[in-house]
Amino acid sequence: MIAFSHSDTMAEPLAVDGHETSGTSPGTADTPGIELRGVSKKYGQHTAVEPTELEIRDGEFFCLLGPSGCGKTTTLSLIGGFVAPTLGAIFIQGQRVDRLPPHKRNVNTVFQSYALFPHMTVRENVAFGLRMARVDRRETATRVSEALVLVGLEEFGDRMPAQLSGGQQQRVAVARALVRRPAVLLLDEPLGALDLKLRKRLQVELSLIHREVGTTFVYVTHDQEEAMTMADRVAVLNVGKIEQIGVPEEIYKRPRSRFVADFIGESNFFAATVDDGAKGTVVLADGTRVGHAGRELNHGTKSVTLMVRPESIHLFRPQNAPPGSLAARTIQTAFLGSHTRVATECAASQDLVLIAVHSKGELETEVLDADKEVALWWKPDDAVLIEEAGSQKKEAQE
Ligand SMILES: Nc1ncnc2c1ncn2[C@@H]1O[C@H](COP(=O)(O)OP(=O)(O)OP(=O)(O)O)[C@@H](O)[C@H]1O
Ligand SMILES: [Mg+2]
Repeated sequence: MIAFSHSDTMAEPLAVDGHETSGTSPGTADTPGIELRGVSKKYGQHTAVEPTELEIRDGEFFCLLGPSGCGKTTTLSLIGGFVAPTLGAIFIQGQRVDRLPPHKRNVNTVFQSYALFPHMTVRENVAFGLRMARVDRRETATRVSEALVLVGLEEFGDRMPAQLSGGQQQRVAVARALVRRPAVLLLDEPLGALDLKLRKRLQVELSLIHREVGTTFVYVTHDQEEAMTMADRVAVLNVGKIEQIGVPEEIYKRPRSRFVADFIGESNFFAATVDDGAKGTVVLADGTRVGHAGRELNHGTKSVTLMVRPESIHLFRPQNAPPGSLAARTIQTAFLGSHTRVATECAASQDLVLIAVHSKGELETEVLDADKEVALWWKPDDAVLIEEAGSQKKEAQE
């Protein structure tokens, strides 16, 4: 049985009485699920969230991803109503909510700590919100059962939270949050306390639950793989600012800043100069001219950064070096299971250049040994031009 359908969710918007709205009725096809308009948050002099414009589509699985202290929880708390914005307006399904208390927003939250009531059974925990909302007994029982089926805990209704594993407790928390059919479910690192295997399983389960209920999910994590696994779109945050929003593939393949490239996956960065030479090319520190995927920059010399992923770099013997390849020397080779990582030194980069070799062809086996002269080459389309100069990395704030 499908416990919740999208239309269920839409059919029962929580009444929010007597408050101003934008005039748009909730749930129309093009009304965003959530909108932040110029929203910022300062704690005293400290800016936790810079002025932010954000639209999250109705029904979307949206991830806020970034290092510790970048403002993920604050952004979520602004949507949930646990903190008030310093400036700006927040809309949920077209209705302005930033002056409403949390319980009057059509939103529910799942936190990292499960926060279940220890003295109540699983069923009572899930039923709690419905009891508070004075939903009648029969409907409560039906909806609680549906929610438990949804999270795969239909057999566990009579247990106490202490008799459940961490993953099961977190699924109860999800059931409890969804049973009131909120328009938006906020999840703040809900799998953070679980071990890796269980986390991966629940990532898949949460994606399936999302697909089934059709509710807008806003999911906070600092784990890039988690974000990429689950999200329709990802926003990468850095020091209170959204650096980039996109589908996972776009974020990975076309990072717009050095921070995003560095935070998502492994990257090689090359200092480069744009000159008036061939279009679509830059010159690296060793004088090699290479192509890049990116729009043309303004004329005139300019320092930029070129980013190439380890798996996009191909190894050649020096005598077979294609035009536009870099001379390099292998330093170390490490077998990492799914691929072999070769660390190389080359004059075009101050850092080691890392290469991920996925299949050991005959040629590759030969050049995988340490201390070999090799040539590095990539397709121009795999080199991303980032309009930021400098070799220093932006450090994540701890
Ligand atoms: N109540 C508060 N008073 C003062 N400063 C705060 C408060 N809450 C958060 N901050 C600061 O705001 C910034 C953003 O905090 P936030 O909790 O949103 O980060 P986060 O991205 O969720 O980090 P984490 O991954 O560690 O949970 C941090 O610098 C934090 O110290
Ligand atoms: Mg947080």
